[in-house]
This record gives sequence, C-alpha cells and structure tokens, in this order.
Amino acid sequence: MSVDKVLITGGLGFIGGEVAKRLVEIGQRVVLFDNLSPQIHGAVPNLSSLSLLRSTDVEVFRGDVCRPCDWEVALSDVKCVIHLAAETGTAQSMYEISRYTETNVGGTAFLLNYLANHKHNVAKIILASSRSVYGEGAYLCACCGLVYPSMRSEEMFRSKRWQPACPTCNGPIVATATPEEARTSPASIYAATKLAQEDLVRIATKALGIPAVIFRFQNVYGEGQSLKNPYTGILSIFSNQLRSGVTINLYEDGQESRDFIHVSDVARAVFLGVTGDGADGSTLNVGSGRATTVERIALLLRERFGSETQPLVSGQYRLGDIRHGYADTAAIYEQLGFAPEISLEQGLDRFVAWVKQQAPEPDRLNAVTEELISRGLYGGTCRN
Ligand SMILES: NC(=O)c1ccc[n+]([C@@H]2O[C@H](COP(=O)([O-])OP(=O)(O)OC[C@H]3O[C@@H](n4cnc5c(N)ncnc54)[C@H](O)[C@@H]3O)[C@@H](O)[C@H]2O)c1
Ligand SMILES: [Zn+2]
Repeated sequence: MSVDKVLITGGLGFIGGEVAKRLVEIGQRVVLFDNLSPQIHGAVPNLSSLSLLRSTDVEVFRGDVCRPCDWEVALSDVKCVIHLAAETGTAQSMYEISRYTETNVGGTAFLLNYLANHKHNVAKIILASSRSVYGEGAYLCACCGLVYPSMRSEEMFRSKRWQPACPTCNGPIVATATPEEARTSPASIYAATKLAQEDLVRIATKALGIPAVIFRFQNVYGEGQSLKNPYTGILSIFSNQLRSGVTINLYEDGQESRDFIHVSDVARAVFLGVTGDGADGSTLNVGSGRATTVERIALLLRERFGSETQPLVSGQYRLGDIRHGYADTAAIYEQLGFAPEISLEQGLDRFVAWVKQQAPEPDRLNAVTEELISRGLYGGTCRN
C-alpha cells in the first residue's frame, strides 16, 4: 500500500484550504480532516462552492481531533500531518476554557499519543501556532535596549494609558520586531493552548524522531476566511460592518497595531516547510514583518467598500489585548528562503473583491461584546 498522503487537520478551514490547493497543484494527494465546526461553517455547511473538492487528489474525512478513533482512520497511509484544526477565538477562549483546551491541547495529545503507540508512516509534522504565544511583542527602550513588557493592567486600560512602559525603568518604549527567541507570555487561554501545543509537539516529535516545524502565524487574512465567526478575524468583522452600514468601532485610540499577512503567503510558507527540510526542528514566525494600525486597516477597507461612514475611535477596550506586535522574519527567510509576496494593498483588493461575491453576513459583534461585558472582559462603555 502506498504511503503518500498529506493529512491536513482543519483542512476545510481558511488556511487549510489554501494549503491544500498548493499541495494539489503539485499532484500531492491530501486528506482534509475536519469536523465542520458550526461556529466556522454555519449550522448547515455548504461546501459546494469549494472548487478544491472537485480534485480527485482531495479526500474529505469528517471527524473530530478529540476522538482517538478518528485519528486512527485519518492517519492511514499518511506521510505528513499538517495540524491546523483548532478553536481560534481569543476572547471566547476566556470563558470556554475546557472546550478550547480539549480541542487544541487534547486534540494534539491524541495525535501524538497515536504516533507513540501505533505503527504509522508519518515522517513530518507541521504545527500551526500563533504569535499570541508572545503576549505583548518586543519593544525598545532608549535606556534598557530590547524589553518585553507585561500585559497591560486593567488600571492602564481604564485610565486610557494604552502604550506599555519599559518593565525596567518605566520609561517610554517603541515596538520592534519580535524574534522567535522572545520570551513567551500567553495572555489568553487560546494563547496558552497554542503554547501547550508547541511544547507537546516539540517534546514528543523529538522523542519519536519525527521532524517537526512549528509556525507562529501572525494575523492571517484573505479570501476564504470565515465571515460567519464573530469571535475572530478583524477584517471579516469590519467588512460585515461596512457592508451592513454599521459604524466600525475602533478600540483604544485605533493606533494599536498588528502584522497582517495574506493567506496565500502563509500557505506558501507551510508548503516550503512540508516539501523541504530546511526548517525541520525549528519554530518560525510567519508574518509580513510590518506593523499596521487597526485604524489604517479600517480606512483601507472603507475605501475599498466605497463606504461613507467614518470609523469611530471609541476608547473601549478588551482586557488581555496586546498593544503592538509584529514579526521578525529573518529566521524564516534564512531557513526556507521565504519572504511574503503580497502587499497589504494587493491583499486587501483581493479580499474585498471576494467578500463582495459572498452573501452578506449580519454583524454579530454586538452579541459577542455583550458576552464580554457580562464577564468583565470589556471596558470603556457607560455600563462598565
Ligand atoms: N487565521 C489566523 O489569523 C491565525 C493566526 C495564528 C494562528 N492560526 C492558527 O492556524 C490554524 C488554522 O486557523 P484558520 O484561521 O484556518 O481557522 P478556521 O477556523 O478557518 O479553521 C479551523 C478548522 O478546524 C476545524 N475544526 C475545529 N475544531 C475541530 C475539531 N475538534 N476536529 C476537527 N476539525 C476541527 C473547523 O471546522 C475549521 O474548518 C489554527 O490552529 C489557528 O490557531 C490562525
Ligand atoms: Zn527602560
């Protein structure tokens, strides 16, 4: 029996679909192992528009990473596992703690447990981790050099002191690129589960002698991202608001920043990790290496949707949010020769053109905000 399949967990998700496309292009057989989570795919998933599924090289296995017997089926004839399946909402993770831990940590444990105790042919594992494992990113202090401030306190949020200060001298600091060797300091249950996944994969694959690559994705955006999931994906949330005429609410002063990378660049990085061995054993940032403020993202989207409504800088905030974070991309360039090819402007053009072809989704952010307020995780409103 030939052992030649690549298994992609979460393969019907945003990043999984794009990775699968790249692999199918080179004639690679792929299995998409996915439970079609209703939060991502809606109550009645519609896969008919996925052209990927028309390829004879693509198999779908509807199963759950939390069920050991599903791993047994999924891993048959597989030479490489790309583990993407996860619960991904940072704020939601703060009150759905067992669900996030079961799926993200438990699911990874079942994979590794299977590999440790059964005959298999897996010769490579790729794990999708996240920049969230760093917590607040790296900063420079004129006196102390490279520093890693702690998460901002509730008192700082309340008094609108948005910018973190130097943890050593309390002086002003400016964000700088965060390298992989930066201190890890998860600030949400989601981030803690991603760091736990990393540790499990690193330790188990070393003991089992299976090469592994861990990728820490920054904010991934692009065509195919879930427009239904109100818990994650700032571009989806803003787009739904712009399309339904709801004013975009910019938290803090709108100057918080993130590193946005287009999904097709991310898929190429994963592809290079699967097909080459330059990054085996490494943990690598995958980002654009550039910081973009949330306000700028809102304005670029507004322009593309032709909206007249100005975003509102509300001063509201979510406890646990970081202020700034962008990737140091030197290591991935050195090990895989990877550099992003799609500029933010090009990526947003592609994303918005795609959104316009999708059925409009209602803005569900209010319901999420109510949930956060009721749990004391959201501030700056008159009810707080
Ligand atoms: N999108 C980003 O910006 C980003 C950033 C950092 C890290 N990541 C990581 O990348 C990975 C993929 O993210 P994405 O954006 O494609 O998410 P996504 O939600 O679009 O896809 C996740 C897929 O996993 C499936 N899934 C969820 N629970 C499952 C389970 N128990 N069993 C089987 N399948 C299950 C879902 O149905 C979905 O199709 C995740 O591990 C995420 O933590 C994503
Ligand atoms: Zn200092």
